Amino acid sequence: MTRPAIYLDHNAASPLRPEARSALLAALELPGNPSSVHGHGRALREVVETGRRQVARLAGAESRQVVFTASATEAITQAIVAGATAFDAGAVVASAGEHAAALKAAEATGLPVWTLPLDGDGRIDVEALAAALARADAEGISLLVAVHWVNNETGVIQPMGRIGALVGPTRHTLFVDAVQALGRLPLDFAASAPDMMAVSGHKIGAPAGVGALLVKGHADIVRLIPGGGQEQGRRGGTEAAALIAAFGAAAEAAADDDMSALAALVRRVETALRTLAPDVVIFGERAERVGNVSNFAVPGLPSATAMMGLDLMGLSISSGSACSSGKVAASHVLAAMGVPAGLAGCALRVSFGWNSLPADADAFIAGFEKFHSRLKREGTAA
Ligand SMILES: Cc1ncc(COP(=O)(O)O)c(C=O)c1O
Repeated sequence: MTRPAIYLDHNAASPLRPEARSALLAALELPGNPSSVHGHGRALREVVETGRRQVARLAGAESRQVVFTASATEAITQAIVAGATAFDAGAVVASAGEHAAALKAAEATGLPVWTLPLDGDGRIDVEALAAALARADAEGISLLVAVHWVNNETGVIQPMGRIGALVGPTRHTLFVDAVQALGRLPLDFAASAPDMMAVSGHKIGAPAGVGALLVKGHADIVRLIPGGGQEQGRRGGTEAAALIAAFGAAAEAAADDDMSALAALVRRVETALRTLAPDVVIFGERAERVGNVSNFAVPGLPSATAMMGLDLMGLSISSGSACSSGKVAASHVLAAMGVPAGLAGCALRVSFGWNSLPADADAFIAGFEKFHSRLKREGTAA
């Protein structure tokens, strides 16, 4: 029998919540298409609309502002690629710390991409945003501004109040990738500045394969997949009712997550790391961070070696962004923060979520200690 693994990678995907599983299985039993007018169709429509209300509530949105998609990547692509066209943008502004989904979408617009730098703690340079807005006004062009709320690698919370205050009152369009913020920060989409916001099911305990684009009324014209007119014409394709039901149930459950308990686990891990390896570097340490994640490096201990060693001990952690190919690739986020490549190559990310327990933090600390002292004995770690 294999040893049960300890899962410490909620920022990559959070395990399925029991509430989401029940909602998923119940909805899978219902035949039909939510767009059908007969009783079976109406029953599925009710499932979809319940999910919509639940996701809307967690995001502080109105139900009609929620457009379901197959992933946050799709929602982000809709916002940026279709948004740039719909709002006739002359350039896209994106921070250097955006997820690949946003960076690739910005590139795909074919427009000039103006990049906002990050500071050493991973915060978006708001002065650079102000300069970009002034430049756009001087050039007489509209901008599509794409920023993330919470960084998936470092957990750094971006200064969204200041960003919203800058872009909100202008004619420029503000899109926010809130994938790592949903369920981890109080969100109030309807009353805040963003015109559009993307969220994802599998980061909060629903299965992968469902996301949403939140849109204010004037952004209803932003359409990537016209199709059969579903989602009020804003995203074609039969709604994945069961996945939407699971997303809704996960959203409802996530509202009760105890983020301070998760923050205590992160503090426990970081305190232990500092004792174990006094030269440990914790990325984004001086910035405001969401409570569930720690991204750190012990100089001389490469990510790939550490991840393999810890994996053999049944500890599933990440080297940073796990969204791409399963390879340990250099982090563009850490590079943008000015972290030297050698140190960035030692980055490890531990992220907790709805079912994490103090025992998980303790298992990580014990495993890391064992692994680190073995390497020290062998003379391979600093
Ligand atoms: C910040 C951020 N944006 C976008 C995504 C993409 O989400 P999805 O997997 O639903 O396409 C992720 C996933 O890791 C993310 O962390």
